[in-house]
Amino acid sequence: MNQPLKQHLIDPEICIRCYTCEMTCPVGAIVHDDNNVVVNAETCNFCMDCIPVCPTGSIDEWRVVSQPYSLDEQYEWDELPEQQDLGSDEASTGLEALDDTMAALLAEAHQGAGGKSKPPTTAGKASINMYNLGKPAIAKVQGNYKLTNAEGHDVRHIILDLGALPFPVMEGQSVGIIAPGTDADGNAHLPRLYSISSPRDGERPNYNNISLTVKREDKGICSNYVCDLENGDEVKITGPFGATFLLPDDPNARLLMVCTGTGSAPMRAFSMRRQRVGATGGATLFFGARSQDTLPYFGPLSKMPETVLDQHLVYSREGAKEYVQDRMIQESDLVADLLSDPKTHIYICGLRGMEEGVEKAFSSIAETIGTQWLTLRDAMREEGRYHVETY
Ligand code: A2P
Repeated sequence: MNQPLKQHLIDPEICIRCYTCEMTCPVGAIVHDDNNVVVNAETCNFCMDCIPVCPTGSIDEWRVVSQPYSLDEQYEWDELPEQQDLGSDEASTGLEALDDTMAALLAEAHQGAGGKSKPPTTAGKASINMYNLGKPAIAKVQGNYKLTNAEGHDVRHIILDLGALPFPVMEGQSVGIIAPGTDADGNAHLPRLYSISSPRDGERPNYNNISLTVKREDKGICSNYVCDLENGDEVKITGPFGATFLLPDDPNARLLMVCTGTGSAPMRAFSMRRQRVGATGGATLFFGARSQDTLPYFGPLSKMPETVLDQHLVYSREGAKEYVQDRMIQESDLVADLLSDPKTHIYICGLRGMEEGVEKAFSSIAETIGTQWLTLRDAMREEGRYHVETY
């Protein structure tokens, strides 16, 4: 038998096909076909540059193999194969078998990154990757509404109708949108990922439609395309993607949601779902924006009763500068109470930069109740109660 090798893999169930890893890899080891994003074992040099940029942690998979999985094999996968029993201690587990240098590199790469996530134990199973690059779904635009009023800050609520196409989604999942045309090299544009902001039974109950929350980015090919869509336009979409950033089915679960800007999309989906099913556990939202008129869904949020959603809206460029983590510290007792409750599920979505500050806030709040945040966070992640999606 060949000497066992460590192979870097991507979990196709959790990967949301944002292609960020592929664009980041300095040696071109990450490639994709219509179906999956995969790692070429012959090219990967374990530099770990791809680890911190992955929004889901799906990039962080390792197997010890006697023969590396080929690209063609990986392209076919719907889920990762189990670690094979190679009959030796060294090869018995993937990650543990990484040597010290690699383990240290990996630990460093994880700093500030979301890390591997698990779905809540009571979440249903999400359908993923039903429509891909080669076979996208065609959705029809049903609505395109401006959510923000500020000059130069255009966030849109886009409603897409799937008609008779099966397109089952869960709150917290994302879809890809393929902008028409080609890039400078003449290749079709890769899909851009957007979180779904509507609940599973439709933006309008029992309609086969979804909504997205999209910010127009300066020179952003896809965001400008989406923000300019008109009713009746046909849009190519891929997905749905994401199998861990999901809502627990337990109506008594308590939600702690922290977001900035368009990171509010999944939080809207969660809140609407919980309101529709009459969940009783309650939810707390820390939501950061530049100002009131750049905060997506400010109007609808103001109509949500506090019993459904306890809201803490903070502004960084209106009045005294405040970030979500500042308000969390100010509301330490509330956050500490949530941290000490095993029914609490934490969701963080938005700017990558906020993660560090939010983690620090959790650390100092956890200390006030004699808890070590990193230990608690890792336990919550393992129990499917801690979810991060930042970009
Ligand atoms: P600011 O840009 O004023 O520093 P948007 O996506 O609409 O710009 O909103 C993002 C919000 O997140 C803004 O209020 C932005 O503030 C804020 N923000 C930027 N960096 C961080 C950070 N490191 N931690 C928390 N919030 C942040």
